[in-house]
Amino acid sequence: MKVSVIGVGYVGIITAVSLAELGHNVLGMDDNKEKVKSFSKGISPIYEEGLEEALNKNIKEGTLSFTDSIEVAISHGEVIFICVGTPSLPGGKADLSFVERVAREIAKNAKEYKLIVEKSTVPVKTSEQILKTIKLYNKHGVELEVASNPEFLREGTALQDFFEADRIVIGVSSKKAENLFRELYKGIDSPIVVTDPNTAEIIKHASNSFLAMKISFINMVADLCENTGADINKVAEGMGFDKRIGKSFLNAGIGYGGSCFPKDVRAFNQIGKENGLDFSLLKDVDKINIERVERFISKLRKAHWVFKDKVFSLWGLAFKPGTDDIREAPALKVMEILLNEGAILRVYDPKAMENVKKIFPPTEKLYYAQDPYDAAKDSEAILLITEWDEFKSIDFSKIKDMILTNVLIDGRNLYSPKKMKEEGFIYYPVGKPPIEEI
Ligand SMILES: NC(=O)c1ccc[n+]([C@@H]2O[C@H](COP(=O)([O-])OP(=O)(O)OC[C@H]3O[C@@H](n4cnc5c(N)ncnc54)[C@H](O)[C@@H]3O)[C@@H](O)[C@H]2O)c1
Repeated sequence: MKVSVIGVGYVGIITAVSLAELGHNVLGMDDNKEKVKSFSKGISPIYEEGLEEALNKNIKEGTLSFTDSIEVAISHGEVIFICVGTPSLPGGKADLSFVERVAREIAKNAKEYKLIVEKSTVPVKTSEQILKTIKLYNKHGVELEVASNPEFLREGTALQDFFEADRIVIGVSSKKAENLFRELYKGIDSPIVVTDPNTAEIIKHASNSFLAMKISFINMVADLCENTGADINKVAEGMGFDKRIGKSFLNAGIGYGGSCFPKDVRAFNQIGKENGLDFSLLKDVDKINIERVERFISKLRKAHWVFKDKVFSLWGLAFKPGTDDIREAPALKVMEILLNEGAILRVYDPKAMENVKKIFPPTEKLYYAQDPYDAAKDSEAILLITEWDEFKSIDFSKIKDMILTNVLIDGRNLYSPKKMKEEGFIYYPVGKPPIEEI
């Protein structure tokens, strides 16, 4: 099938590469010319495991190409995926102007039937708004349909998630659209939930809000564990064996970040409000999450009551392991607070440093390190923020020879308190008794 993907960011590029891998003829389009140039050369401007290999393979096989012309993209695909951003507006509503602009262009330029697919995360009833726009601008009077096919990939395992999806949700208004999707996803052995577009749109926002709620819930309980000397890992284990609860998303830590959970929780809360409903549960989910960073910093304050001119090492900057994405990453807030208080930072992340440098350029007070050991030199506290695999196998006997004071604040419960005690560290985990004396 001929498919166009408009907006080749984190979601669009995975959609484009994966559909090409399934044998479709895919054209990726973006209005960022640099991105298009880079993808066309087989170089991915974003990091995702296995992406560059799959990109090059499909370019070579002729199933995948790129353009910066929206007219060319509209003419190419029978199915057109909209994968542009839907960021938060002040107040939390989703900014749909990018989606609307693409819909207008499709309506103006389409000369034959097109199935327009919302892959971007959008509020319920957006497909109805897109239909209105399309009717208004449908110059050539062609048949245009709108469907919702929300994306559930996780950055870090995005390609795997596409091919081994827990489910594929398609919100359609006709059998023709349903059949096109079935043809499109032939070869993927995942349950397909067929529904109407409004329901599909709600499934996406409800799923992300639910997962974020689970994280904030366990973080709320972690605070109680800290105040009472209990152990959050054991609480989560004890809860997680209950099949109705499940084990995943019960890892207490410095909170969720990324381009989805924070904005989707806020957008879903707004959708509730606009529909005359009290979705304030989600306001609390957001509030608990925002407070995580201050709580993390407050542990550092217990060890060092003055930050000015102290050298702190940050391990991990990306919002999660496996990606270079730093949107709403807790590390950025930590950096801002510590730099404002006059600390000297030595930071390291295996993939995300180039993106962070665009926001916090290197200075004499901010050093981007070669590796975790380089980051730890002369350190007065190590702050573990992202649980990359390479931090799991740190040689702490080597670290101890390089640092000034043995303080470790663990924002992800990556290390065991027992081991850190043996290593001689003042250690603050999440939701467990700290080691405050050595
Ligand atoms: N990143 C994720 O993990 C994830 C997962 C599921 C759903 N989503 C949703 O998918 C959508 C996209 O997210 P993302 O992370 O890929 O965003 P992104 O910012 O990485 O990508 C958006 C892309 O769209 C391009 N673009 C914007 N306007 C355009 C236009 N008019 N024409 C052509 N290209 C245009 C941008 O240049 C950019 O490359 C969002 O709604 C997001 O909520 C994201």
